Amino acid sequence: MTDLLLRGRTLTFLRWPDSTDDHAAYRYEEDGGLLLRGGKIIAAGAYADVASQAGEGAEKIDHRPHLVLPGFIDAHAHFPQMQVIASYGAELLDWLNKYTFPEETKFRNAQHGRHIARLFLDETVRHGTTTVAAYCSVHKQSAEAFFEESHARNMLNIAGKVMMDRNAPEGVLDTPQSGYDDSKALIAEWHGKGRQHYAITPRFAITSSPEQLEMASALMREHPDLHMQTHLSENHAEIAFTQELYPWSKDYTDIYERYGLLGKQSLFGHCIHLSEREADALSDSGSVAVFCPTSNLFLGSGLFDYQRYRRREKPLRIATATDVGGGTNYSMLRTMDEGYKVVALNGEKLNPFASFWQMTRGNAEALSIADKVGTLDVGTDADIVVLDSRATPGMRLRMETVETLAEELFLLQTLGDDRAVREVYVAGKPAKSVIVA
Ligand code: GUN
Ligand code: ZN
Repeated sequence: MTDLLLRGRTLTFLRWPDSTDDHAAYRYEEDGGLLLRGGKIIAAGAYADVASQAGEGAEKIDHRPHLVLPGFIDAHAHFPQMQVIASYGAELLDWLNKYTFPEETKFRNAQHGRHIARLFLDETVRHGTTTVAAYCSVHKQSAEAFFEESHARNMLNIAGKVMMDRNAPEGVLDTPQSGYDDSKALIAEWHGKGRQHYAITPRFAITSSPEQLEMASALMREHPDLHMQTHLSENHAEIAFTQELYPWSKDYTDIYERYGLLGKQSLFGHCIHLSEREADALSDSGSVAVFCPTSNLFLGSGLFDYQRYRRREKPLRIATATDVGGGTNYSMLRTMDEGYKVVALNGEKLNPFASFWQMTRGNAEALSIADKVGTLDVGTDADIVVLDSRATPGMRLRMETVETLAEELFLLQTLGDDRAVREVYVAGKPAKSVIVA
């Protein structure tokens, strides 16, 4: 097995960075090295030290002057929505009915699912994202297609077949029993196979009957180590309809709570309009609120109050995500740029170190996978992104006036996209440069 020795300006985070002066929150090496072997990082630090540990015949790749970071993590995206992204003129419920549900019916066809799964993971990797928590369609074969593609690339991804048995067209409905059986079979086949993780995925309370949420609950009890992902409190009309469907509930969160769906492995997309009680319930259970800024703005859903959720007496665990195709970009750089603006509209600032912490270690911690990905720590998986801060003429010009690392990161976030991603390594192997367009 040949060692791979990377050289570049390495940057990894140790904890949440309080400000642009919080230099103890990260580790940065101007002339850094990473030694990769067997898909893992086996040495990290100053290049000279790391190089001295490389085996005979190690392959060397010099990425200077670029930045070398942990691969980005996207905590919520819908792979069957690649041909929904950029659909005009609707809010959430109309957007689902007009564009999303009809599109997802196509994934009954396994061949179509395989085609889109391949393109989705190509696009994900091209944008520097090495792990995504993905919703598949209701069809078992869509999840099979996603996992086959993910496994073939040796990516650490989290995914699940959506469970939905009402309030949508026939072509995207399962039943409580078939949703349970298909999820169960997919868990048996895929969870823990290579780097694959299964997430129990009831779409949201509107499209799941009480019987189906009961089945999702049973799956969680039977597989307590699995993730659960769903949507919560995204849009006012959604919240009102949900209350009609579950009239006994105190609020939207209460529905998921009664079915035992809250917990440390539970990922709730959006969480925009939570009451204090709901936020307390999420916090007490260790549940994760997933901030999807481009989607929340695009669908006009509202402003996620990131800093308030983080600082409240009972803080929320927060992840960030593209939410493609309600979201408008595959890039976590673009996502955090929009996130910065949402935080600004709430009267605060999100410092660039915190942004980069969030899309790497922060999201890994929120997904409880920080022992494997999200840092450049020795012993973790070698999922890495190489960023070029001079990728475009405008970036190159602006870089002439950049003096600090924080300024450079902010420039990358504000102007960067897939063009700034020079290379991506998945489990120690180049993954972007090998994509055939
Ligand atoms: N709520 C239920 N399904 C979806 C979806 O596909 N996208 C978004 N943004 N919200 C949802
Ligand atoms: Zn979503």
